[in-house]
Amino acid sequence: MSVTIVGGGFWGDEGKGKVVAYLALADRPPVVARAGVGPNAGHTILMDGRKVVMRQLPVGYVHRGARLLIGAGVLVDPEVTLAEIDRLDVDPARLGIDPLCTIIESAHVVDDRGRDHLREVVGTTGTGTGPANEARAARRARLARDEPLLAGLLADVSAEVNGAIDAGDAVLIEGTQGFGLSLYHGDYPFVTSKDTTAAAFCMDVGVGPTRIDEVVLVFKAFASRVGEGPFPTELPRELAAARGWEEFGAVTGRPRRIGEFDFERASRAIMVNGATQLALTNLDRRFPDAAGLERLEALPTEARRFVDEVEARLRRPVTLVSTGPEVRAMIDRRG
Ligand code: IMP
Ligand code: MG
Repeated sequence: MSVTIVGGGFWGDEGKGKVVAYLALADRPPVVARAGVGPNAGHTILMDGRKVVMRQLPVGYVHRGARLLIGAGVLVDPEVTLAEIDRLDVDPARLGIDPLCTIIESAHVVDDRGRDHLREVVGTTGTGTGPANEARAARRARLARDEPLLAGLLADVSAEVNGAIDAGDAVLIEGTQGFGLSLYHGDYPFVTSKDTTAAAFCMDVGVGPTRIDEVVLVFKAFASRVGEGPFPTELPRELAAARGWEEFGAVTGRPRRIGEFDFERASRAIMVNGATQLALTNLDRRFPDAAGLERLEALPTEARRFVDEVEARLRRPVTLVSTGPEVRAMIDRRG
């Protein structure tokens, strides 16, 4: 039973949601903890033909036995939280929000959408996360413990996560966004308002780095980016469309910028995250013949060659390969 962090190697939207949902169903960890920035994230999963977009609760909710935690480092929008509990029909008794989480106020959302620098220059998601982190740094933010809407949903997340690890239970820690969006290691100023590497995900849920066994870094078989900022492997929109790689943002609905797999960026992301394994998603969109296949040996030659190239150039095992949008469509080579 291991303690595993899942993070993103590009600019978010690598398919972390799918990978987390798969791991939650396959490994059945008793504890799933949401790390990452906050509801600026949009994790999309397709389960039994039903599409679900999640912004705030752990995607690991798909494993019905899991305790669902949101760590102190994560920004919480109370309305988004309650709406999601309702929409996904999650038993509130399963959920524990750390009393020390920062609350996103409606004024933060207005501010995020109203400031030219954030809207035009950075191209934020407009979900209030940047202004809320500013308020936290200024020591003016309200915390989850001060929010009546969340009373009854609070729990000491750090204590629960560390307690589960002490008891030898598996813990799955869900990161959000991606390496290129890190406030410190990404393409500043075209970044989000916090670090988005594995070290930050530890901090978010209140565990020390010595307690982590595996860091699974997720990459899409091509790259995408929403918002402004450098994107060296970007393709012209028409070319991306011709390849069937068009995408739209799960939170904002904005068309995503699309590009080739970026080996240089990936290698840096692996270094800074201390990745132990890689997950490769959307292989079927790059190689349609790979759709739905369940074994690496069954992959068409070109798809197999691509997976081998990723392993060889990035020098980490590709342990998970997603071959379709359904949560279960996964080649699992973890052994
Ligand atoms: P913010 O996080 O809303 O402040 O946005 C800052 C930058 O990060 C913008 O370029 C956003 O498009 C990008 N961003 C934030 N969260 C995500 C995500 O979950 N997926 C993709 N891009 C994101
Ligand atoms: Mg997303």
